[in-house]
Amino acid sequence: MTLPLLLGWIGAVLLLQLATALGLALWRRARSSPAAAVPAGPPAESAAAADAAWAGWRDFRVARREFADAASTQCSFVLEPVDGLPLPPFKPGQFLTFQLPAVRVPDTPEGTQRSLTRCYSLSAAPDPAHYRITVKRVPAPAGLPGVPAGASSNHFHDHVQAGDVLRVRAPAGHFHLDMASDLPVVLVGGGIGITPMLSMLGWLQTHQPHRPVHLFHGVRCGHEQAYAGWLRAQAAAHPALRLHAVYTQPASTDEAGRDYQHAGRVDIELLRRTLPHGRHQFYVCGPPAMMDTLVPALHAWGVPPQDVHFEAFGPASVKGLTAGAATSPAATATTVAFRRSGRHIAWDGSDATLLDFAERHGVVVDSGCRSGACGACETRVLEGDVRYAGAPDHTPAAGHCLLCVGRPAGALTLDA
Ligand SMILES: Cc1cc2nc3c(=O)[nH]c(=O)nc-3n(C[C@H](O)[C@H](O)[C@H](O)COP(=O)(O)OP(=O)(O)OC[C@H]3O[C@@H](n4cnc5c(N)ncnc54)[C@H](O)[C@@H]3O)c2cc1C
Ligand code: FES
Repeated sequence: MTLPLLLGWIGAVLLLQLATALGLALWRRARSSPAAAVPAGPPAESAAAADAAWAGWRDFRVARREFADAASTQCSFVLEPVDGLPLPPFKPGQFLTFQLPAVRVPDTPEGTQRSLTRCYSLSAAPDPAHYRITVKRVPAPAGLPGVPAGASSNHFHDHVQAGDVLRVRAPAGHFHLDMASDLPVVLVGGGIGITPMLSMLGWLQTHQPHRPVHLFHGVRCGHEQAYAGWLRAQAAAHPALRLHAVYTQPASTDEAGRDYQHAGRVDIELLRRTLPHGRHQFYVCGPPAMMDTLVPALHAWGVPPQDVHFEAFGPASVKGLTAGAATSPAATATTVAFRRSGRHIAWDGSDATLLDFAERHGVVVDSGCRSGACGACETRVLEGDVRYAGAPDHTPAAGHCLLCVGRPAGALTLDA
């Protein structure tokens, strides 16, 4: 080999090494800062979708529906994939995201329809043939005339029938059972917050039948307790399961000891009184009042943060993902432009999130969980940065942000 040829080879090898090192560094940098908005780039598949069981939407047929409580306020929908292929396993506690293209909004003039995205937890253990969700009907709030009932939940109850086809995103969410641990488990479900616990319990009974489980279910009365009979049957059949049904307003037909174990609320005093000494893993899901008191109380009791897992079925107040105006990184005045809507709007820091801000100003954007978990509000950033108070569960694709937990870090242009 001649000297010039040898030098050419060495140069080429050095250039290749340099390019590889540069590519790796850029890739690491992009991965290490998921919470900060990245410069606008071409549309890309969501990072979460790459990890998901399937990307985008998949059609599911409703195989059957059944009420889960005697009061018929909670209805389960058993779903099977239209393509007939086996379902991937999910982690017990995860949820599905549904896209409902034409939902009649309750209490609005005939013909008013909206497209909605909503999340529902899987309410049964993983099964290769079916998924199950359980939806609680959300009535119009008492004493607030003009405020409509929940759109999606009433749509499910009143219109979704066996044979209907629904568009569904793959199971997702970081609120799930630690399946590698054998620590005793405390499952706390408030009302419909029992759904992820049902899936965890089903998995535990099949895979770790000897792992101690304490299940607390807080409801008003027996009439409204979803899967009350099933839970009692499980407790009778599995010595490792301790069932604590906790009723705030037991009915005259509810019998203490048979139907419920405690009158009152699921609070820290009850847990302290009933749980044996030792380390437990706590999983909590319930209405805001329960989440806002019980989760901090567990921390105050000395339960280490890694043993407290929780999920709210709505805006993430407990998670602190949506920082208040005073403490958020972008409380200062700036401008947010929504390019497709042709709007430039002054941001004064009074909205908790970009989603609230967009909705308040009539900019139509999609949303689902409103807590950074489902990806429905993922929006392309054309210019500027978006900041989060904490890393969201769902990692948006490069050049995109999550409106529901994000706030602008200066002048911002969004593709919305
Ligand atoms: C991860 C996750 C898992 C979930 N799992 C479950 C589950 O297993 N089961 C379940 O039932 N739910 C679950 N949810 C909640 C579910 O996604 C929906 O939020 C719930 O069904 C309510 O949706 P909706 O469309 O019926 O109500 P919306 O139409 O979104 O209304 C919500 C509330 O706002 C009120 N409202 C409506 N319009 C107005 C207005 N203009 N002004 C003021 N108030 C108004 C309604 O009266 C209602 O009280 C979950 C949520 C998340 C994020
Ligand atoms: S609405 Fe679910 S991530 Fe924003």
